[in-house]
Amino acid sequence: MKVAKRLEGIGEYYFSQKLREIDELNKQGRQIINLGIGSPDLPPHPDVIRTLAEESAKPNVHAYQSYKGSPVLRKAMAEWYKRWYDVELDADTEILPLIGSKEGIMHICMTYLDKGDEVLVPDPGYPTYRSAVKLAGGKCVDYKLKESNNYEPDFGKLEKKKLKKVKLMFVNYPQMPTGQLPSRELFERIVSFGKKHGILIVHDNPYSFILNEDPMSLLSMEGAKDCVVELNSLSKSHNMAGWRVGMLCGAKERIDEVLRFKSNMDSGMFLPVQLAAAKALSLGKEWQDDVNKVYNERREKVFELLNSLGCNYSKSQAGLFVWARIPLKYKDGYELSDDVLYNSNVFITPGGIFGEAGNKYVRVSLCATVEKFQESINRIGAKALVAH
Ligand SMILES: Cc1ncc(COP(=O)(O)O)c(C=O)c1O
Repeated sequence: MKVAKRLEGIGEYYFSQKLREIDELNKQGRQIINLGIGSPDLPPHPDVIRTLAEESAKPNVHAYQSYKGSPVLRKAMAEWYKRWYDVELDADTEILPLIGSKEGIMHICMTYLDKGDEVLVPDPGYPTYRSAVKLAGGKCVDYKLKESNNYEPDFGKLEKKKLKKVKLMFVNYPQMPTGQLPSRELFERIVSFGKKHGILIVHDNPYSFILNEDPMSLLSMEGAKDCVVELNSLSKSHNMAGWRVGMLCGAKERIDEVLRFKSNMDSGMFLPVQLAAAKALSLGKEWQDDVNKVYNERREKVFELLNSLGCNYSKSQAGLFVWARIPLKYKDGYELSDDVLYNSNVFITPGGIFGEAGNKYVRVSLCATVEKFQESINRIGAKALVAH
């Protein structure tokens, strides 16, 4: 069967392929330690699980739900934005609950892009931005994020590009994969760039609570709602990646526009999941502190692992990963990743999957136990890595 043209140039998602290879290696008895994916291995708070269990035992919660999500969840999302980011959102009109923020990326592209419309995407950046733009018929225009520029866009260079056809720009701070935190100056520049050129800025903000004491929303900048929508998620901040709960926040008009598309795609989330998510959003700082304590300990081990590989990295990264520059003896991150996979049975992600600018880097996930990191360090130390 011939697939649609829109799938041309869209491969299977890298991790979907790689996990199959890792499964094969495991079947051969290799017991690979997977330090690739940012899927939190810790459970959500017990009250969240209790809410799901109690609510789903009720007889009247199993019907289709509102396309705009439960008012209880939208109110919890608005309160969460006020409490942590100091952003006022109208729970009725300025929030759209999502089945994870990943689907929101696709919905935004389908809502705004016509064939040939251009979108600024970060390199390195989350690969889904790129595929969603292409699937919607748009064209990606990469903007490089360089270590020497603190992984911020080079606005001088951007201003010199032809921007007439650019409708959207994806930004994401704390940045994945580089772990770069935003500054207020950076956020101000992004908003004024969007306003000046009539570009809708899509800020993807799922990592602001992980190893970061100062969560920031791009919507907290003055006048941001004129040109910004923000995606957020409970996947990382509340250990709920498999639950699929995210949100889109922004001006009423933008929310209505995206809802026009989304309401044709799905029929809302299971109500008990929404009520449990509302519970999660009401948790206090102790919750975030406990989660971060675990990630902090693990990160020390990751630093040790990266030292043993001869990689360089910044210690002030936020988010679920450590991003590190590879030593010169490797051609690129793919070579290092394969070397460690085939010789030490440890998988770490090659930076090149996030774009060409990531070629000389690797990314290590913090979603494994300290014992697994120690075992990885032992395995890597025990094997003489291939000499180049
Ligand atoms: C930068 C970035 N945005 C969005 C997502 C998707 O998150 P969600 O689970 O909310 O769909 C991820 C997940 O890995 C991510 O790294």
